[in-house]
Amino acid sequence: MSDEAEVIHHGLDGVVVDTTRISKVMPEINSLVYRGYPVQELAGQCSFEEVAWLIWHGELPNASELKSFQAGERARRNISPALLDVIHKSSRAAHPMDVLRTAVSFLGVEDAAPEKTDAAANLNRAVDLLAKIPTVIGAFYRLRKGQNFIPPRGDLSIAENFFHVCFGKVPAPEVVRAFEVSLVLYAEHGFNASTFSARVVVSSLTDIFGAVTAGIASLKGQLHGGANEAVMRMLLEIGEPARARDWLLAALREKRVVMGFGHRVYKKGDSRVPTMKKYARKMAAFTGHEKWLEISDILEATMIEQKGIFPNLDFPSGPTYYMMGIDIDMFTPIFVMARITGMTAHVMEQLANNRLIRPLSKYTGPGERRVVPLKQRG
Ligand code: COA
Repeated sequence: MSDEAEVIHHGLDGVVVDTTRISKVMPEINSLVYRGYPVQELAGQCSFEEVAWLIWHGELPNASELKSFQAGERARRNISPALLDVIHKSSRAAHPMDVLRTAVSFLGVEDAAPEKTDAAANLNRAVDLLAKIPTVIGAFYRLRKGQNFIPPRGDLSIAENFFHVCFGKVPAPEVVRAFEVSLVLYAEHGFNASTFSARVVVSSLTDIFGAVTAGIASLKGQLHGGANEAVMRMLLEIGEPARARDWLLAALREKRVVMGFGHRVYKKGDSRVPTMKKYARKMAAFTGHEKWLEISDILEATMIEQKGIFPNLDFPSGPTYYMMGIDIDMFTPIFVMARITGMTAHVMEQLANNRLIRPLSKYTGPGERRVVPLKQRG
């Protein structure tokens, strides 16, 4: 093996492993584009459904494409009694991400034609996941509170239907819009840990359900998607703006990781944060819960002053969801509801030009030695 091959890129930091046509993160100009379109423009002008189509097909849909896509997605939101039973049988104390991961795996078991592995069949499965994931989230949201299951409605957008299946009603348009913007911002982000996990899994030519199941498992972690939950827990622990600066200084002294800050790729700020912050402020004004953003502002200023580390998308999204009245442990499942678009697009892109992903490692264990028979090992 050459010396070059032995250079270790811990955490694959800085390693370019493949090409992609889906999105581009440009940390130097603080920008993120999906298929060439700046994400803030998409968030400002497009529905989540339009963005889902864009991510999968490479172009924004025209009116008739959007209409038939929406009709197809809306018609597929119901889940089987067997899947509902799996959700029913889950422990009420389980993390909703674990229930969602199990549900996606079970959808693979229910796949009617697993032998079909062409791109059209996989796109069909991706739309199915997009349609059914909110139903799964809503079912567990309610069942664990002892509430009845609410079937999805076919006359609502994906964002509206999420509130319907969780709460039985659709909130004010301001709330739905802020939620939908978060879905657009969360939809896709290159070779992040969960998407890359999905690409690795499918590169062995296994099925899309297995790849997405692995992606969800990865997304749950606090260094990744789980950060939006951790941010809100941190804000609750701090409690009052007057405590925020001292709390952060103590955390830094104790060398604790402060959730919602830092990013592997963005080192001068996350391109999605200004848009999400704008909608977080709208939510604060709408609900009258300004306190969480006051604490956030102090944390952000202090973190930049002390460490030069900027907030990531999870920092404003966590309190935004909290202000909407959503349970904290449902924040990362919402991330899945959005990222299922980007993740499945990557799975299909990987399969379109597949090569098994199989890196090397540098062995640092004991040198070669002989096995001593059990009787002589003392
Ligand atoms: N809180 C405190 N210190 C942080 C930090 C944070 N959130 N993020 C980075 N740092 C520090 C690191 O400890 C390191 O300090 P050191 O040089 O003294 O060791 C320095 O900043 C550089 O960070 P680095 O190790 O290069 O970051 P990374 O690229 O390996 O990790 C994250 C990126 C996202 C995993 C990391 O920033 C993190 O854990 N953030 C909190 C979790 C989070 O919000 N995740 C969501 C990401 S979208």
